[in-house]
Formats: sequence, C-alpha cells, structure tokens
Amino acid sequence: MPVLGLSKEAAVGSAALALAAAAGFWAGRRYHSAYNTGTMKGILAKNNPLLQYVLDHSLREHPSLKKLRLLTLDLPQKGMLVCPDQAQLMANLARLIKARKALEIGVFTGYNTLSMALVLPEDGRVVACDINEDFASVGKPVWKEAGVEHKIDLRIKPASQTLDELLASGEAGTFDFAFIDADKEGYNDYYEKCLRLIRKGGIIAIDNVLWHGRVLNPRKDDLETQSLHDLNEKLFRDPRVNITMIPMGDGVTLAFKL
Ligand SMILES: C[S@@+](CC[C@H](N)C(=O)[O-])C[C@H]1O[C@@H](n2cnc3c(N)ncnc32)[C@H](O)[C@@H]1O
Ligand SMILES: *[C@@H]1O[C@H](CO)[C@@H](O)[C@H](O)[C@H]1NC(C)=O
Repeated sequence: MPVLGLSKEAAVGSAALALAAAAGFWAGRRYHSAYNTGTMKGILAKNNPLLQYVLDHSLREHPSLKKLRLLTLDLPQKGMLVCPDQAQLMANLARLIKARKALEIGVFTGYNTLSMALVLPEDGRVVACDINEDFASVGKPVWKEAGVEHKIDLRIKPASQTLDELLASGEAGTFDFAFIDADKEGYNDYYEKCLRLIRKGGIIAIDNVLWHGRVLNPRKDDLETQSLHDLNEKLFRDPRVNITMIPMGDGVTLAFKL
C-alpha cells in the first residue's frame, strides 16, 4: 500500500525502546495498527487489496491530517496511530450529531484529535487526554497550521483524573462524542465516566475491541485482552446504550447513549 504508507512494518529497534521507556507505560511492548500487522483475517488483513480499494474510494484526508499521519509513520510507535478511515467515520458521525464538545482518551500524536477539531464548530472543543506530552508535541504544530489549535484543550495527566475533574466541574451530560483509545486496562473506567459526561444521543467510540483477534481466546494472565473482552461482554448487555461493533481497524464499537 505505497500510496498510503500503511503497510510499513513496525520494527522495534533500540531507538524505539528508548522512546517507549521514556513513555513508561508502553515500555517493552509492541503495538500495531491492524493495518500493519498480518494477524487479522479477511478485510482487516495486511495488504488486503479490497481494503486498499476501500481506502482508495473513500478516504478524503484533509492535507493537515495527511501531513500528521506521515509524520507519525516515521515514529517507532506508529502502530498506535488510529486508522484513517476510522477517524473519518468518527468525524462524519460527530458532524451528523452536530457535536460541539468531544473527548479524546489517548491522543498520541493527535491525528484523531485534529480530525475531530476540523469538524467541530468554531466554539467547539476537544478535551484531549494523554500522559505523554512528547507524542502530542508532534501534532501541535500541525493543529496550529490547520487553524484549529484553539479548539483543542490538551490535558497531560492520567485520563481518569481529567474525566473526574470534568465531572467535578459540572460537565456531566455536556459532551457529544468520546473516543476511548488509551491503556486497555482502564477502558471500563473510561467508559463509565464518558457515559456520564456525554449527553443522550451522544456517541462513545471504543477502539481495539478485537485486539488483533486475541479476544477470541483471552488468556487469564493477559489483563489487556481480559479487560477488552469483559467490556465487550458488558456492552452487549448494557441497556443504557444502543451498540454496533464494526470490524474496521482493530475493531471499533460505537455506543449510542439512550
Ligand atoms: C493508541 S494511542 C492513541 C492514538 C490516537 N487516538 C490517534 O488518534 O492516533 C494510546 C495513547 O494513550 C496514552 N495513554 C496511556 N495511558 C494513559 C492514561 N492512563 N491516560 C491517558 N493517556 C494514556 C499513550 O500515551 C498513547 O499516546
Ligand atoms: C435501541 O434501544 C432502544 C431502547 O432500548 C430500542 O427500543 C431500540 O430497538 C434499539 N435500537 C436498536 C437498533 O437496537
């Protein structure tokens, strides 16, 4: 997939490990986007020509988004980048529901943060949560160049803390859209807090719900897979939301608050 550059393999070398160690939480782990691993089957498989066709016939990437994607693909942690077609779906949904306030739980270099900021109105706001400022600093100049920097409220601290602060400051029920894409063991906590923060009719998008297929056979000692699988089971029965699970990227569930 040379046009999109999505097929580059993530190679974790010594520079990658140094950066991962600096990021602390991610030390020693290898993260991929579903589009650059060979582990998924069918439409999600690496170098699947049908997926390339989908991208070639649907991805309308803003030039600033393309620039940030290419900058991000030069980083050793590029596998954490959101899939661009998924970001486009979420931006379309945000526009559809006339979103004004959005939550980004896990910013990385800020591709999806930028994608949301681009579709929010002038007085809109993305509260962008991450613990790593170095990653976000890759995106900041591009946010500025795209003219949407003023819509992005970056908060560098554990996301659960930021969500608690928003709840404490009376912002429950005022958000329209949330994207959960940070540490997998925190997902249930993020989901519960986001559900309180968004309004009725608001949408929570949950990333990596297929976890490269590992949810099919969760091992007891694999806490990330367990956490994702448990949340998938809970969402299936959760009467507070309507849901849809889409095999796009690494799997994304959309929860529509009733
Ligand atoms: C998969 S990446 C996010 C990708 C991003 N949504 C995008 O548009 O490309 C996950 C991010 O979560 C961040 N993270 C990990 N633990 C966190 C925590 N407790 N609170 C907030 N962010 C966290 C990491 O630093 C990393 O940047
Ligand atoms: C969404 O939830 C409402 C309320 O439980 C239910 O009536 C409706 O059928 C659901 N829609 C879908 C598509 O599941």
